[in-house]
Amino acid sequence: VTEIHVSAPGKLILHGEHAVVYGKAAIAAALNLRSHLQLKQMTDGNLQLELPDVGISVLFALTSLESISFSGSLEDQSHSDEDILVIKNFAGIDVNSCEPKHLAIVSFLYVFCSIYKNKSQWPSLRVTFKSDLPVGAGLGSSAAFSVSLSAALLQLAGHIDSLKLADGITSWSNEDKIVINKWGFICEKIIHGRPSGIDNSISTYGGALKMQNGQITNLEKMPQLSVMLVNTKVPRSTMVLVAGVRQKYNLYQDVMEAILNSVEAITKRAENIYQECSTNITDDGFKALGDLVDLNHNLLNAMGVGHPSLDQVVAVTKKYGLHSKLTGAGGGGCAYVLIPSDTSEELLSSLKEELNALGLDVWSKTTVGGLGVL
Ligand code: MEV
Repeated sequence: VTEIHVSAPGKLILHGEHAVVYGKAAIAAALNLRSHLQLKQMTDGNLQLELPDVGISVLFALTSLESISFSGSLEDQSHSDEDILVIKNFAGIDVNSCEPKHLAIVSFLYVFCSIYKNKSQWPSLRVTFKSDLPVGAGLGSSAAFSVSLSAALLQLAGHIDSLKLADGITSWSNEDKIVINKWGFICEKIIHGRPSGIDNSISTYGGALKMQNGQITNLEKMPQLSVMLVNTKVPRSTMVLVAGVRQKYNLYQDVMEAILNSVEAITKRAENIYQECSTNITDDGFKALGDLVDLNHNLLNAMGVGHPSLDQVVAVTKKYGLHSKLTGAGGGGCAYVLIPSDTSEELLSSLKEELNALGLDVWSKTTVGGLGVL
């Protein structure tokens, strides 16, 4: 029985979320928090998807899936709205649903049908996805799902071929990662509407990268950077937040362009700081980064994607002389706190205690820039 295991990292957008949707520069890095997908070949004639973190367990008979009129194929560069409609009807999902966990089912069936449409044998599978990442909190849980799902299904069908790396780890060549990332992006579009592609890219390639106008640059010289992650646990929808910014942009393009350009200027200054430090960020570098993080958070508030719980994190961290901003789509979800290298453990544990007392979840100290999909 074939079994495939794929692990993909979550992501942290350091600077430039939302602006990146408009072609402006953004910087993101992989997190050490990862997701784990198991694909198991079965013999019961069904296709099963288990997402225990969000309470989803669905099963479809392959014979009925084979009979839907699906036109997409692996060669397609984008998804077709008609095919999505066909799949939603087949899976009994409301055509207007914005619920990521339901759209994850749609993306699963979409990739599966695209791969197997022209094949005579459709495999019976059980796919189980679990994650260390909080779901829907801005740390890229859906991108980790999209990327690991694509990698596992493409690997099973023989469209990509995993390689053994030196330290016993298995991953894929850069060429294969381009294919994984393309399908990860298609899933992300199904789940979120009009994403920039930064989330799936960082989950695929890992490390740190800059995205601008859809172009990805690997930030090879990214120094060691530690952050504290804080989850406000306020639920929100990326699709709704991105659409809200779009609405403002359409109404007040001149005003919004100025805000988005300011965010891009922040991203570029931060990039310069990262590039200038060979391994460690200097004290002056941290001072400037702190200012830039504050400015970035305030500009995100101006775009309308803030939340009082995120401002509370910023206010508490400020008391400790630290700087934080929301990360990801905002509206709740997570913030990160910049941790200069000389920050004492005592200070960090007092800060954690104070944030915990407010009911927030805290990951004390995480270094960003881990491995991509494995
Ligand atoms: C979401 O993680 C990041 C956003 O910039 C949307 C996107 O880039 O697709 C808000």
